Parts: sequence; structure tokens; C-alpha cells
Amino acid sequence: MSNRFLGNTEMNEPTPQPTRRSFLDWVIGLFSAVTVGAMTIPALAYFWPAAKGGKGGDVEVKEAANLKPGESAIVQLQGKAAIVRRDASGLVAYSAVCTHLGCLVKWDGARKEFLCPCHAAVFDASGRVVSGPAPAPLPAYKVKEVSGKVFVSTT
Ligand code: FES
Repeated sequence: MSNRFLGNTEMNEPTPQPTRRSFLDWVIGLFSAVTVGAMTIPALAYFWPAAKGGKGGDVEVKEAANLKPGESAIVQLQGKAAIVRRDASGLVAYSAVCTHLGCLVKWDGARKEFLCPCHAAVFDASGRVVSGPAPAPLPAYKVKEVSGKVFVSTT
């Protein structure tokens, strides 16, 4: 008899209703999760190509096909920034990533040097360090032209 009584008592208890506070906690939790995801996914995507190490091989660089002597273009090669430049001897390509802390260097055609805007490193036309804090030259990439198309290899 007492079991039946307890059973009835439990069944008669009202089911807890969601409160405004629990609903707001749920909404805030959802927005927090979306915000964290929106910040984390691009950060992981940024590191993904470096983690993969790239595929290597030749990449067609359409931006370089129409470069005139003295002109340059910054291009992406399998996730790596590079500068392709046409000089008197033909096309050359170098990493556009400063070897100091990774800022993008720019080609200054008047000075015939690569300049890093972050801490003033200067590289000569062959990528060698002229001045500034950069510890190493800009890596050179292989360039070839085949039937008017330009291919650059980062390996
Ligand atoms: S990142 Fe280029 S000089 Fe510091």
C-alpha cells in the first residue's frame, strides 16, 4: 500500500517547465559555440596548407604570362605567396614571405630590391639579404615558360 502511495505521489509531481533563464542559458551557449567555431575554423584553415606541406610540382601562373620587363606580380602557389618578376634575362620567382617574421615583401622596381614593410629588411634582386633583421635569403623558385604559359615550382 505504501509503495502505491509513493508511486502516485511521484506521478502527481509537476514536470519542471523550462524557465526563461534556462532558455536564455541555452541560447547564449548556442551563440558561444557558433562564435568559437567561426573563429576556430579559419585559424585551422590558415595552418592547413603548411601542415600538408604542399604538393610541389609546377603550377601555372597566369598572372605572369603578360608581365613586361621590370614588372612583377604577387601570386599564390599552393598556399605560398611568391613574387614572379620579369627582368632582362627572363622570368624569376622568389618566395614573397620575409624570412624574418613572415611579412609579405614587395618588389621595388626603381631600387631593384625586395623590401619588407614590417621591420625594413632589404633583399637584392636575387633574394639575398642586403640589410635588416632577416636571417636568410628569400627562397628562389624554378620558373619555366612553355608555349606562352608560365609555370613555377616551389620544390
Ligand atoms: S618580417 Fe620582414 S623584416 Fe621583420
